[in-house]
Amino acid sequence: MFDEIRFNTIERLPNYVFAEINDIKLAARRAGDDIIDFSMGNPDGKTPQHIIDKLVDSVSKDKTHGYSVSKGIYKLRLAICNWYKRKYDADLDPDTEAVVTLGSKEGYVHLVQAITNPGDVAVVADPAYPIHSHAFIIAGGNVHKFGLDYNEKFELDTEMFFEKLKKAFRDSVPKPKFVVVNFPHNPTTVTVDLSFYERLVAYAKQERFYIISDIAYAEISYDGYKTPSIFQVKGAKDVAVESTTLSKSYNMAGWRVGFIVGNPKLVGALQKIKSWFDYGIFTPIQVAATVALDGPQECIGEIVEKYQNRRDVLCESFANAGWDMGKPKATMFIWAKIPEVAQHLGSMEFSKQLLKEAKIAVSPGIGFGEHGDQYVRIALIENENRIRQAARNVKKYLKNLEAK
Ligand SMILES: Cc1ncc(COP(=O)(O)O)c(C=O)c1O
Repeated sequence: MFDEIRFNTIERLPNYVFAEINDIKLAARRAGDDIIDFSMGNPDGKTPQHIIDKLVDSVSKDKTHGYSVSKGIYKLRLAICNWYKRKYDADLDPDTEAVVTLGSKEGYVHLVQAITNPGDVAVVADPAYPIHSHAFIIAGGNVHKFGLDYNEKFELDTEMFFEKLKKAFRDSVPKPKFVVVNFPHNPTTVTVDLSFYERLVAYAKQERFYIISDIAYAEISYDGYKTPSIFQVKGAKDVAVESTTLSKSYNMAGWRVGFIVGNPKLVGALQKIKSWFDYGIFTPIQVAATVALDGPQECIGEIVEKYQNRRDVLCESFANAGWDMGKPKATMFIWAKIPEVAQHLGSMEFSKQLLKEAKIAVSPGIGFGEHGDQYVRIALIENENRIRQAARNVKKYLKNLEAK
């Protein structure tokens, strides 16, 4: 019925590639299989107790149950600005340069909706966290993509990045209005150093575009690597906003608390559009989130240590099983090149075979873009025993594949 009535936005959105893997996983579980699940970047740990205690305390009060504040309560906006000051020596105004979002994903989608005119072009490197490009599709914009280049240590090839970015500005009509960057990068784990942002900010001022930076994994880094922020660059606020989240650093993914800070024009646009969409996160969650940022930070070290141990066990045990993969310097993922013997399968078929034959779920690289098809993403959300079990399963599967 009503076939002539079309929904353009929905039609422009592709089907979620991961849904296919998810369906197979659920069917296997229902059939009684024990699937070792590395597929989603969903932290498996509990939120630190002092944050939970604050939530309970706040929810027990009389005055915390009404509508909250759409752009976030002042104390929480102040806490994120103080976090930036402590960590990056960056000055931000909690009223005009910070907004609390329902997780950084919601903030990103609504920011893009607020600032994108139909036909606007955004540059997003491929592969990418899917919403980084699809938010522009939802908003009626277009995406200019180029392949992300990096070395075996998962460090960005900055020269190639700028070469391709400059080409995007030469080729794209209309000229791009936004450039999205996300380092440490999901899915590839690729990292940058501060000089990358210095160059990017200078280029943004020259070509007149806005930068949207996502540092969701700012705190999840290893071996002494420290994630830089674009706001360590003087004058970056003229051209950039940056999103952060409590989801990963404090195991608070389900609480839905994130932030976008920086350029007041963009932050103001987001505050305005959000005031039409929502009444803010439940106040007790915002109060507890304030304690997360202002309180003791040892919990982050414990969370990072857990991921680091899993990373080391996974890389070692999978290498012994015949699947070598490089160690990431950051994020809760391993970006694993498909072993030689299975390269011809592509990431989707390889992921399906891993599910059916090795009982492990991973995310096929193709789900993050065409440049991801030689890889799968492994999320470090299973414990070390289960990682070792996964390696034993992989060993058998690869042996069988070789024998074919
Ligand atoms: C790069 C990146 N940005 C943003 C998000 C969304 O996080 P949040 O829970 O804050 O919405 C994720 C989640 O996996 C992510 O990987």
